[in-house]
Parts: sequence; C-alpha cells; structure tokens
Amino acid sequence: FGFSAQADGNAAVPSASMDPSLVFAPDSYSELTTSITDADGSAHEVVYRFYKVASYVANPVDATYQSLNVSVPVQIDGTAVEAAGAPILFVNGVGGYMPSSVAGNTGIGGNPFGGGTSRGQLALAAGYVVVEAGARGRSLVDSSGVYYGTAPAAIVDLKAAVRYVKSNKGRIPGNVERIVTSGTSAGGALSSLLGASGDSPLYDSYLAELGAANASDAVFAVGAWCPIIDLEHADMAYEWCYGSLPLPSGSLADRTLSKELSTAYGDYVASMKLKAKGFGTLTTRNLDEYLVKTHLEPSATKYLSALSDTDRETYLAANATIGWSDGKATFSWTDFLTHQGTRSKDVPSFDDFALSTPETNLFGTGTTKARHFTLFSLRHENGDSARLDADIPAKLNLMNPMYHLVEDVNRNRAKHWWIRVGAEDSATSLSVVGNLHARLKNLGDDVDTSYYWDAGHGADEDPGDFIKWIARVTG
Ligand code: DHB
Repeated sequence: FGFSAQADGNAAVPSASMDPSLVFAPDSYSELTTSITDADGSAHEVVYRFYKVASYVANPVDATYQSLNVSVPVQIDGTAVEAAGAPILFVNGVGGYMPSSVAGNTGIGGNPFGGGTSRGQLALAAGYVVVEAGARGRSLVDSSGVYYGTAPAAIVDLKAAVRYVKSNKGRIPGNVERIVTSGTSAGGALSSLLGASGDSPLYDSYLAELGAANASDAVFAVGAWCPIIDLEHADMAYEWCYGSLPLPSGSLADRTLSKELSTAYGDYVASMKLKAKGFGTLTTRNLDEYLVKTHLEPSATKYLSALSDTDRETYLAANATIGWSDGKATFSWTDFLTHQGTRSKDVPSFDDFALSTPETNLFGTGTTKARHFTLFSLRHENGDSARLDADIPAKLNLMNPMYHLVEDVNRNRAKHWWIRVGAEDSATSLSVVGNLHARLKNLGDDVDTSYYWDAGHGADEDPGDFIKWIARVTG
C-alpha cells in the first residue's frame, strides 16, 4: 500500500537555483528496521530510510538545533510501501520554550514527553513521511553572554525547516503540500503558530539572515496539544479562569492583582468579537458557560459514558459537583472549578514580577536573560510611566497565533486543526484553547477540538485518531 506521487505538482525545484547546502540528497540514508506499537497495541515491523540533514539553513547560528531528520517508510510488516506522495508529519519536540535538538538521534525519535509511542513513530507505521526538526530555545547563551534562542528564534527556525522541506519538493519523499505540524505545550504553541502564520512576511528578515531556503513556509494542517499561546493575555486569562482557586499550598493568590487582571481580560475578550453557536458574541460574562457547554460537559460525558454503571456511580459519589442526567454530564462553571480544586501558578502566572518564568526568559534579548512583556507587570515593578522595550510588541505578534488569526488575518494559514488539551491542565487558562477554537470556527476552518476529562498537562489520549485524521484531511 502507499501514497504514489501525484503526476502533477511533484516536479523537483531546480537545484541549480538553490544554495548547494540546502539541496536534499535522496540517496544519503541509512536503512533501519524498528518495531512500532500502534495506538491499538499491535506491533509492526517497519523498515525505513533515515536521513540526517546537518542544517536546514545555509548560515546556521547553531546547527545542533537548526537541523532535521527525515524518516521514510519503505516496508511495513513485510509489505513494500510507497511514500512518495504521503502526507508529511512535521514534528517539533519543544517543551518549555527550551532548545530542542535532533542532531544526536540515530533513528526516529521517541516521545519527548514520555508516555507511549511517539507521534512520529505512529505516523511512520501508518506509511507517512516524518520530519523531525530541532529549534533554538530561550536558554541558549553564547560565550559573550548573549541569549541567541529567545523570541522569535524557535518559530523562525521551524519556518526555515518547513521552507527547506518545501524547497526540496520532488527530492524529499512525501507530499510537501500536505505538511501536518505537531507539538505539545510550548511545542503546541509553535505548531499552531506555524499553522497560523504561514508565509507571513513579518518573519522574512529573520529567515533571510539565516539563509533559509527560498520557498513557502505555509503548512496544510496543525496538531496542537495544550498550546501555551496568547502569552501577552495569559496572565489575565489565568485570573479570569482560576482566580478563585487556591494554590496547591492552600493559600490564595493576591486578590487585588487577581481581580485587576481578571477585569482587564474582559476588554480583551470583547475586542476579539468571537462568536459561538448558542452564545452569540463571547464576553467574559458568557465565556464560562461557553466553555462548560461546548467543551467541558461533552468531555465529561465522553469520559463517564465509557465507564461501567458501577464505576460511574463510584466516580459521581467521589466527585460531588459533577452531575449526570439522561446520559450526560452536567455542572456549572463554579461546580467545575470546585472539581478542579487548585491552580498551579501564582499571580501573575506568565509575566511574573521576579522575572523567573519561562516566558520572561523567552522575551529576553542580548545579554538580558528575561524581560517583562506586559505593561501590567512592567509598571507594577517600574512605575506607571514605564514603557515596554521597543522591540517587544512586534515580537509578541511574531510569537502569537492569535495575532495572525484575529488582528492580521492570514489567508495562507492552515485550514485544518486538531486541538487537544486536558480539562485539568492548569498550565494556562482553559479559555486559551476555547478562544482559539472559536476563532478558527468563525474563520470557517475545519477544527476538531477536544478537552480530555480529568487529564493534566501534556495529555494525548487519542493518538491513533490523530493519525486517522491526517489521512482524512490530507486525502
Ligand atoms: C510549558 C509549560 C508551561 O507551564 C509554560 O508556561 C510554558 C511551556 C511546556 O510544558 O512546554
């Protein structure tokens, strides 16, 4: 079985017009054999070609991170596979906005977040081509103390990797017009940002500086798990969502700060003019009900329906605020928060006053490790006349998919979206995915969103369904 190359559209880009270091060499691979357990628990013997690309840019800053690997299935369970026209799963393994490298890998990667078979391996066993790309991250610092992986380095690198793949159309196996990106948490943010910002000219100067290949960086579809996005509004969103909940220590976050941020969220949500079926325009007055009805109750219903009657009764007895009626879970937003119990981050959760979060480091620059990126936190520390550093607003836009979906709507965005988050994941507000979903729906895109009931940060409970979804949307 397999995916034959389309007769049209698969002609190679002439390599004479390309930087020689960016021309993919189809014959430079090692042939490897591995056993992959699929999402249903069946083991498959997969023979594949494994390619290492030393750098996806002509002028790498640090090729340890700016490199990629390609895995191409040739035989699955003894049957030859044709992957020339297969979809390409473009995997990033970024977590915490830290640097991510595949340079040392000698075969397709495992799951960078632990757990079961990696998404890349599942895709390979389904006959898809898998590209695993590294990227610079926030903590990288050179010998003169300069931070060289802070925003927007990671997204620029991943875009350069996409350009490399697309510029090698006809040489690199797989259908470069059917790239599906994948990532979790900060990696989910970058995956959704790749999808939202495809071919945006805002990144051109950064890409040119790296000597990125001359090609499109638009991708076809996005898989994003618990994306940590909309960072400049994340502190407000967090207080709107979890402001009433105690920290794990049992103490409450500062009430005044929490209230100020939560109130400010109202203006932001209203400004987006998001619409949702049954709710009209979303505001912070109906956003809670929207999350409950559209995302959280269906999540709990799915979870509870799958239990035996006895197990469901036990669950409901132990979780008093979760109701069950006519085969459906029912609860209010307040009930849900009681079920949730605690918040995991203090106030402000992202642009913290002590400049100790991943995100303040993400917005570091030069020899400055971390900076404020919201006026709220900056002015709390430095007084009411303080102004954000001049480069910050543009960098926020470069890092935020919502910018490319709401403020400067990008027609070249991905139109197919697989979005997943644990309903008990308090790494960011539950409204972050809710807003992303609503906006994509409003734009008319194909969106498959699901909250995993009682699941925490990084959960992926339907990996096999994602693999099938790829076949469906790219077919
Ligand atoms: C991740 C987690 C966070 O809490 C955060 O603020 C940013 C990134 C992560 O797991 O990637």
